[in-house]
Amino acid sequence: CVCVCVCVCVCVCVCVCVCVCVCVCVCVCVCVCVCVCACACVRVQLFHGRLIHRTSCSCGVSTDEHNSFWTLNLPINNTHTGVYNVEDGLKRFFSQSKLTGDNQVYCDKCEAKADTTTECEVELYPKVLVLLLKRFEFSYYEMDYVKNDCPVDVPLDIEMPKGVSYELYATVDHVGDLRGGHYTATIQSPDDGGCWYDFNDSMVTPKNNFNPERYVQTFLNTFKLL
Ligand SMILES: *[C@@H]1O[C@H](CO)[C@@H](O)[C@H](O)[C@H]1NC(C)=O
Ligand SMILES: *[C@@H]1O[C@H](CO)[C@@H](O)[C@H](O)[C@H]1NC(C)=O
Repeated sequence: CVCVCVCVCVCVCVCVCVCVCVCVCVCVCVCVCVCVCACACVRVQLFHGRLIHRTSCSCGVSTDEHNSFWTLNLPINNTHTGVYNVEDGLKRFFSQSKLTGDNQVYCDKCEAKADTTTECEVELYPKVLVLLLKRFEFSYYEMDYVKNDCPVDVPLDIEMPKGVSYELYATVDHVGDLRGGHYTATIQSPDDGGCWYDFNDSMVTPKNNFNPERYVQTFLNTFKLL
């Protein structure tokens, strides 16, 4: 979306003179703003969000980089044994990291490498938040891309920083491995009391007692803004 605002100000001054030499002036300003918005497409309206990546040097200087996003990609940082928790993963995504020692970053003000912290902040929350679980990653152990099949705890509701809440309404699931597999989707109906349905090619079947805990197939979770 691109918005252009034009503001026009009108000032009215009222002056009252008391005695010979004391003048009191009161000004009232009225502003009229005209905004013109042009929206590119539905994809932008629904999925577009913006992140601020902040890098702060220990000297106090910080730089902000503003980036658009359509999905938040969460690394699954466990081995192939544990359970991954989406809420914890999101907390790590928004937590501060310290870059020290060999990871120090060059600072223009210090003119040297210095201890630095980096963190992420949401500048614009999308209406639909898509969390992508990075199940397909390069393994240096196997020297190949592998799929991490660990079970994932997906919350039905998530609270983002600044108290912004989202509700799960769809997941995209994958069975199989890197070379061959099958995609299906699980979507909550906005009607009929919020029943969940399984979409498998041309088959749609009700998914009773849907509970996204220890979810093995899921790799994309779609939340709507409350
Ligand atoms: C990996 O996850 C654990 C919790 O499961 C957490 O304590 C740790 O900080 C994470 N490491 C990274 C690099 O995110
Ligand atoms: C999708 O449907 C096929 C049969 O048409 C079945 O073999 C397969 O297990 C189903 N997949 C899922 C994830 O339900």
